Amino acid sequence: MSRIFILNGPNLNLLGTREPSIYGTTTLAEIEAGLKAMADRAGAEIAFAQSNHEGVLVDLVQEKRDWADVFIVNAGAYTHTSVALRDALAATGKRLIEVHLSNVHRREAFRRHSYLSEIAEGVMAGFGPHVYRLALEYVLIKAERATP
Ligand code: DQA
Repeated sequence: MSRIFILNGPNLNLLGTREPSIYGTTTLAEIEAGLKAMADRAGAEIAFAQSNHEGVLVDLVQEKRDWADVFIVNAGAYTHTSVALRDALAATGKRLIEVHLSNVHRREAFRRHSYLSEIAEGVMAGFGPHVYRLALEYVLIKAERATP
């Protein structure tokens, strides 16, 4: 059975009201509820966390390194700045899928570099809240195919 940890970084707790023209109006709680239902249907285990603090995100990754098979991470602004979070994710030795609601490549230049992409299996960006669902669907399909 797959164990998937969904981790969100700074300001993603504000989804729903934060810059809706960029990030939409769906809340993080709504996204998480949808992902939980998907995981339940597939018989997968899923856990969620969000923090605005870099060190707390590192702690959360360390806490889940034995439990999780796959990390689906939207690190928010720490995507573009945090070597510490990248190192924590690399240290898990587990799979990483990087997601962003917005298309970071058609925004400010500083959003085009990600410290996580080099260690990620894949990156999903620009499809609003669907990025989480698409990433989870990919993980679940792969897990199903791997099952004898
Ligand atoms: C984001 C993109 C980041 O550049 C930004 O700092 C965020 C959200 C996204 O989901 O589109 O906080 O990760």
